[in-house]
Amino acid sequence: MFHDAIGFSKSAIEAGTFGGGGADGSMMAHSHVELRYGGNVGLDEIIHEQRPFALKHEVSFGDFIQFAGAVGVANCQGAPRLQFLAGRANHSRPAPHEGLIPAPFHSADEIFSRMGDAGFSPQEVVALSAAHSIPCVDDATPPQNEPLDSTPQEFDSQFFLETLLEGSDYPGNASALGEAKSPLPGEFRIQTDGLLARDSRSACEWQSFITDHDAMNAKFYKVMAKLSALGQEPSKLVDCSEVIPVPRAVRRQKARLPAGKTLDDVEAACDATPFPSLSVKPGPPTSIPAAYVIFSVSWIQNLTIAKPVQAYNLRIDLRLHSCLHNFVSQFAFVASYRLFLLGGLQTVIDETVAMSKLPDSGTLLHEVRKARKRYAQCWVW
Ligand code: HEM
Repeated sequence: MFHDAIGFSKSAIEAGTFGGGGADGSMMAHSHVELRYGGNVGLDEIIHEQRPFALKHEVSFGDFIQFAGAVGVANCQGAPRLQFLAGRANHSRPAPHEGLIPAPFHSADEIFSRMGDAGFSPQEVVALSAAHSIPCVDDATPPQNEPLDSTPQEFDSQFFLETLLEGSDYPGNASALGEAKSPLPGEFRIQTDGLLARDSRSACEWQSFITDHDAMNAKFYKVMAKLSALGQEPSKLVDCSEVIPVPRAVRRQKARLPAGKTLDDVEAACDATPFPSLSVKPGPPTSIPAAYVIFSVSWIQNLTIAKPVQAYNLRIDLRLHSCLHNFVSQFAFVASYRLFLLGGLQTVIDETVAMSKLPDSGTLLHEVRKARKRYAQCWVW
């Protein structure tokens, strides 16, 4: 979502040149150009795996990227249900140049200047950074698939705390451009995350999210809506947010210090507000297991998956037990399986088991028809 949208420059547009189409699907339509941009490292697999689904279901690339991202985020416990507007045109031009994509080795000045040119304040950059609560890094350095915090299955505040802990080592061989030392074995730190956590323009907002998950979510929701509308006219799009699953609630409002760490390990950087007192996770010193499973997408493709609209309408009407236990998550799994992977092997097992509990096909068909009628507006794509 971010990498498609951020190839957008207000100053270029004001100067009368092409400034990029924002959240227009150009990343998928012109992947031969945009995937060569240094800041887009790691996005090749997901783009190539999603494109056939967008084509097959005749969804515009721009809509598909936003839909898949919103569903992927919804698979993570504690995330907000993101807004999803549909109806983007399916024509675009490649983002004009590589310099529009923030890279992990940029300075804080470069990040703020680039993001400012796309319309985002330093506080909004912090809110967007909440997305780094859930990824795993896969292209940067061996051994690969290191998360950016110790709870990659949850969209929680832990990322904002752990980026402020003093770094001590690298999870791999330290060969990645834009990698900083991280505080926990098996955890990866993107250099820019470490810089933004400590920069005077962003440090207080960053610190505030450590103890306020609700604010983090509300601000993430708002800024993601802004991001996904870059280059678009929202009034011409249809609000299909209801098709996005509602994520499960977060378990903790406040982050906890990882086991083995104390407040002395925190490099607090907000002058205006004292660093909060936090509880410490009990147990032996925290380290991150290396075993996040890479799951074969072809297995998923062999499933009988309804058209996406049928699939997510089903979710709305049937209200099956969880986002893992319904058709939409099967589709979402395909669409954004890499985010889903964070759950690891157990998720895959749960998913497989849950499939046998789906209703019979007659009931499904009936529910699809009902849902289609009710959500006719979102049926357009
Ligand atoms: C502002 C500067 C940013 C920089 C420098 C940056 C950098 C990176 C890097 C280096 C990775 C690891 C890529 C890999 O090796 O697989 C990554 C992953 C990711 N980032 Fe960011 N990021 C930024 C902002 C954002 C924003 C604003 C979002 C979303 C709103 C975002 C969402 C993600 C996601 C979802 C992943 C995981 C992708 C995957 O699983 O392959 N990032 N980012």
